[in-house]
Amino acid sequence: MEMPQRGNRRRALAVAAVALLALGPAAITPSTTAPAAITPAPAAVRPAAMAPAAVPPGARAPAPTGTPAPDGADLYLRTCASCHGVQGQGTQRGPSLVGVGPASVDFQLGTGRMPLKDERQQPTRHEPVFSAAEIAALVDHVASFGGGGPRIPDPAPGDVAAGRQIFAANCAPCHSATGSGTDLTNGLVAPPLYEATAVQIAEAVRVGPGPMPAFPAEVLTDRQVDDLTSYVRLLQSERLDVGGNPLGRLGPAAEGLVAWLIGLSLLVLAVRWLGTRADR
Ligand code: HEC
Ligand code: HEC
Repeated sequence: MEMPQRGNRRRALAVAAVALLALGPAAITPSTTAPAAITPAPAAVRPAAMAPAAVPPGARAPAPTGTPAPDGADLYLRTCASCHGVQGQGTQRGPSLVGVGPASVDFQLGTGRMPLKDERQQPTRHEPVFSAAEIAALVDHVASFGGGGPRIPDPAPGDVAAGRQIFAANCAPCHSATGSGTDLTNGLVAPPLYEATAVQIAEAVRVGPGPMPAFPAEVLTDRQVDDLTSYVRLLQSERLDVGGNPLGRLGPAAEGLVAWLIGLSLLVLAVRWLGTRADR
């Protein structure tokens, strides 16, 4: 009388184990597929995010034929003068722009730092407000205030090994060895370098935006700026390789699946063995 009961209980146990296993995949699937489902998104988003970086300034928003060239003086009066003064002389809300140079204006507008919304905040990178033609017009208008200043650089491919050394000595202390950026004192931030175009990198080096020091030609030659720019571009592409590889992210999920399949096979064997024992 006892034996069949024990057999039944064993069988019930076996059925429960199988049911659990059957439910297992359903319960596990969302967590294993989630990373897979999420992975394509960054890969799809990144090229779009990088697009402005890849497009040379001149190629953006070609003016339709018949459209008048943007009026730099008018744009300036409407969006800049309240902080920088009608003649770029500066106000309490913004510094003088006399003599900052085309590279500074192109950098500030091309990285979307200007027009600033709140002069008490450190300017940060944004989608540019102006088209390439409008930026060129504003660059010309600010240059008309006089004073010279660094021109817009035209970086050429350089030597990344030399660039690495220049970067380690001059840039890594603030932007970190990988270019990911760091927090400075007084709540200021040295931003990550992953989105800047080659021209913007060279501009930042020559201009020294905000708290960043400028590196004029007496400190770094044009050739050294080329080396540096090529190295920062390499850092950018290395970061893309690490962060954007979907197979790399699938790794853990695939490993989990393999472990789960092996576990499943072992359990099925064990349950079968229990079942045959119970049948006896
Ligand atoms: C003292 C710290 C410091 C050093 C040294 C420094 N930077 Fe910067 N860098 C900054 C800060 C702060 C900013 C943000 C400027 C602002 O407030 O607009 C910046 C901005 C930049 C940007 C703009 C990034 C973007 O996407 O908008 C680039 C590019 C850059 N730096 C490159 C360099 C390179 C290359 C070097 C080495 C030659 C260097 N920096 C050295 C502090 C530093
Ligand atoms: C709300 C006020 C405000 C407005 C509007 C504004 N700026 Fe600025 N701008 C500032 C401040 C403040 C700084 C200094 C930011 C810093 O710490 O880096 C600055 C910095 C700059 C610089 C860098 C100057 C340098 O020394 O290299 C340029 C170039 C510039 N602005 C151009 C413009 C242009 C062009 C416009 C209009 C499209 C504009 N700004 C609109 C407040 C403003």
